[in-house]
Amino acid sequence: MPTLKIHHIGYLVKKIGKAVKTFESLGYQIEQDTVYDDIRKVDICFLIKDGYRVELVSPVSEDSVVSGLMKKYKNTPYHICYEADDPEAAYLELTENGFTAIDTPTAAPALGGCNVVFLMSPAIGMIELIF
Ligand code: NI
Repeated sequence: MPTLKIHHIGYLVKKIGKAVKTFESLGYQIEQDTVYDDIRKVDICFLIKDGYRVELVSPVSEDSVVSGLMKKYKNTPYHICYEADDPEAAYLELTENGFTAIDTPTAAPALGGCNVVFLMSPAIGMIELIF
C-alpha cells in the first residue's frame, strides 16, 4: 500500500462564518480564508490547530454536492482526506481493498487546483484522496 498521509478532516457546517468563529474560540487559526468551489457549490475554509487541519464545507445552494448530507446529518465531520506519494497507485489499491469511487478525480479550487476523488467504504464511510 502506498503511504497515505492525512491532509485534513472535512467538516460539514451550515453557517461557515459561525463555524469559523467557533473553531477560532477553540484555538484554531485560519489557514486559508473561505474560497467558493463553483464545481461543488460549496464554500470551503481551512483551519489549523496542533498540526491538524480542518476543512469547513458549507453548501451555498440547494444543488450543492453536500445539500443531501446537510439535511441528514446537520453539522458534522464527514470525511478524512489523504494525500499519497503515488496517488494513482493509492487509488488502485483502495479500489482493490473495498473502496468504491463515488466520483471521478475533479479539480478542487480550494486546494490550488489539485484534483480530488471521493471513495466510499462499507466499513468506514467516505474518504477523499488528493491527486
Ligand atoms: Ni475535503
